[in-house]
Amino acid sequence: MLDRTGSAQAATIHAMRRCQRGRAHQALRRGTAPAHKALDQHRLMQQLTGRELTREQYAESLAAMHRPHARLEWRVHASRHHAESGFELSPRLARLEADLVELGQPVPPVSQTPPDLSDGRAAWWGRVYVLEGSRQGSAVIARCIHSSLGDTVPCRFFGETIVPDDFGRLLATLERELEVDDALEQAVAGAREAFADYQAELDAFDSRERAVEMR
Ligand code: HEM
Repeated sequence: MLDRTGSAQAATIHAMRRCQRGRAHQALRRGTAPAHKALDQHRLMQQLTGRELTREQYAESLAAMHRPHARLEWRVHASRHHAESGFELSPRLARLEADLVELGQPVPPVSQTPPDLSDGRAAWWGRVYVLEGSRQGSAVIARCIHSSLGDTVPCRFFGETIVPDDFGRLLATLERELEVDDALEQAVAGAREAFADYQAELDAFDSRERAVEMR
């Protein structure tokens, strides 16, 4: 727990970070904060960071994340905007699948729809923000998983080494790409849509599980 000096320092660091955030980053972050909070509080996410996490619950949460992650990653990586942007994005789905296999879970099939050719460039950047931003909480989640389940539990997905410069480079690119108001609005809408898809997939997973339990 932080003492008074510690919490004053933490507040100062937080305020400094806020001041350093560019306009596009602030808009994306503010525009998606309620959606991030809702995801964070979803049962399947909450149990990951809870003290009572079991191996079965960990496997359940990872299985639930498989489809929304696969869909978002595919939508971002397979888009023509990815190739055109020259931005190198590294996939994480194989890491998630390797963890599932080691946890004894089947890897669910995911049908990949053809890339949407009408997808706007700014909305695509909004989705990139969500996909790459989601790496930012991973270290916290990995720490919780290891503290509940020990150091040997498979944790390739959350435990990957994060290069802070990579997110910094993305944020700098977002500032350049989303300078115009209209583009920024489209990016925020794209990011919100990505969060909404993710939430809907987690809800659908939960409903399927409940339906199986009630049989
Ligand atoms: C247990 C679930 C989750 C936890 C505990 C969590 C936690 C965090 C934390 C601690 C940060 C860093 C915040 C900061 O630097 O101020 C973060 C950032 C972020 N997370 Fe999550 N997260 C979770 C799930 C997700 C999911 C599923 C997504 C999206 C699919 C997501 C998207 C983001 C984004 C976009 C950011 C970047 C925010 C920014 O700096 O602008 N998170 N998360």
